Amino acid sequence: MTMITRPRLTKTTLLFGGTVLWGLLLIGCVGINRSILAPAKVPGADYVGTKECAQCHSDQTDHFKNASHDKLAIADPKVGATGCEACHGPGSLHAKAGGGINNIVNPKKSPETCFACHVDKRGQFSLPSAHPVLAGKVSCVDCHEVHGSDAIQGPAALESMNETCTKCHTAQKGPFVFEHSALKEGCVSCHSPHGSVNQKMLVARDANLCLRCHLESPGKLAADLGQINANAIAHTNANHNSRLMSGNCWSSGCHEAVHGSNTSNFLRY
Ligand code: HEC
Ligand code: HEC
Ligand code: HEC
Ligand code: HEC
Ligand code: HEC
Ligand code: HEC
Ligand code: HEC
Repeated sequence: MTMITRPRLTKTTLLFGGTVLWGLLLIGCVGINRSILAPAKVPGADYVGTKECAQCHSDQTDHFKNASHDKLAIADPKVGATGCEACHGPGSLHAKAGGGINNIVNPKKSPETCFACHVDKRGQFSLPSAHPVLAGKVSCVDCHEVHGSDAIQGPAALESMNETCTKCHTAQKGPFVFEHSALKEGCVSCHSPHGSVNQKMLVARDANLCLRCHLESPGKLAADLGQINANAIAHTNANHNSRLMSGNCWSSGCHEAVHGSNTSNFLRY
């Protein structure tokens, strides 16, 4: 117990973080202390610091300099930065043994390591429609590259974010003869990948999902079309007022092929 040094928050960390981050870090410290005390398989392990890991894992440490999680900058007074061990647990026994799999935490197997700091995510993945992360069928690292420069896989470009999704969801990948340009703004413009109260992880359960992009301010299009009282749908010549009463935009007979279609430019099927 006396060996445990409470991770010290550096000046950079404090400057970097607002109140939210602050909270996150405090939770992080609790998590880390727990992982020092708890793991049965690593009795007596202590922090050795990121530079130790670099000797054998340059693949991970080389990219880590720019990684989101490097900014955690949790430093131990004796060994310096301990960013790796924030997720992998204290590594002294692992380093001394020159490797091994039972003396180090591998978060791929369980999201618990991530929940220690990202507390809100446990709640999101418990929502009625969510990726089966809690069941262990999908892992945080299927979508996040934690060692790279940006924890969200690929460069910030949305296209590569979509690729993260379509490597599993091939049906939505296309190419389609008639593409829905909404996909250019990312799958996340309609889905919350961490979870949602709406089915299919949709960000909204009704026409509002579509109207966020397709609602033209009442007036302009209405005037163009000579319609009165139109909540006109953008990019269409048809008055949708009555149709919106009868169901979802993507329900039967309407725009079922919401991701893209090979036969209908109106994305009907
Ligand atoms: C945000 C949490 C997190 C941080 C910080 C982190 N890792 Fe990892 N690490 C993971 C996860 C999750 C996996 C399993 C998935 C994977 O291989 O990407 C992993 C896997 C690994 C592996 C096994 C790779 C393999 O091919 O099996 C090594 C080695 C490793 N990390 C070393 C490091 C080192 C060294 C650092 C510091 C530079 C570090 N990690 C920082 C989460 C983290
Ligand atoms: C002296 C070399 C050495 C050092 C130092 C070292 N490792 Fe490793 N590490 C290895 C080897 C070798 C393996 C492969 C183990 C195996 O397959 O048995 C490994 C495997 C791992 C794995 C994958 C475990 C798994 O479940 O597959 C992780 C994670 C890891 N190391 C993290 C770290 C971290 C974090 C540090 C710094 C605290 C560190 N290592 C320091 C040699 C080292
Ligand atoms: C020790 C606490 C801690 C742990 C453990 C941790 N994170 Fe983080 N994570 C943070 C903090 C703090 C940030 C905010 C950093 C930033 O905004 O750049 C963050 C940011 C992120 C981001 C957003 C990155 C970005 O560039 O916006 C992702 C994704 C992420 N973490 C995933 C994970 C995953 C997956 C795991 C488990 C393998 C994990 N984290 C474990 C503290 C942690
Ligand atoms: C199915 C893919 C997927 C899985 C699984 C996933 N994420 Fe994410 N995550 C994303 C995407 C996509 C974004 C970017 C969201 C955006 O830009 O709206 C993101 C954003 C984040 C962020 C930054 C924004 C925020 O919501 O705070 C964090 C932190 C994060 N994820 C943590 C995690 C953790 C921890 C896990 C595992 C418990 C996890 N994610 C599992 C796809 C995923
Ligand atoms: C590692 C593979 C994998 C990745 C990557 C992935 N998913 Fe999934 N997705 C799944 C699995 C598995 C399910 C659950 C299927 C089930 O419950 O039958 C699922 C379910 C879904 C569902 C709900 C389907 C339904 O019938 O309720 C949506 C929507 C979805 N994913 C969107 C996304 C988005 C958006 C991304 C990218 C941010 C993504 N997925 C990344 C594997 C993945
Ligand atoms: C314009 C909004 C929108 C965008 C963008 C979007 N989706 Fe969807 N997605 C939907 C709607 C609406 C449904 C529900 C369809 C239904 O219930 O028939 C759905 C359903 C799904 C399903 C479940 C399919 C099924 O057969 O039940 C998956 C998986 C999915 N989307 C993945 C993705 C992926 C991956 C992307 C990005 C490449 C994406 N979506 C982009 C609106 C969208
Ligand atoms: C992120 C913004 C966005 C969202 C959300 C969105 N769309 Fe779109 N949609 C577009 C864009 C951009 C176009 C291309 C418009 C153009 O080319 O004039 C488009 C085109 C269409 C078209 C083809 C119209 C035509 O005349 O060619 C249909 C049909 C359509 N969307 C239906 C939907 C439905 C149904 C939803 C809800 C499930 C939805 N959209 C949600 C952005 C979006």
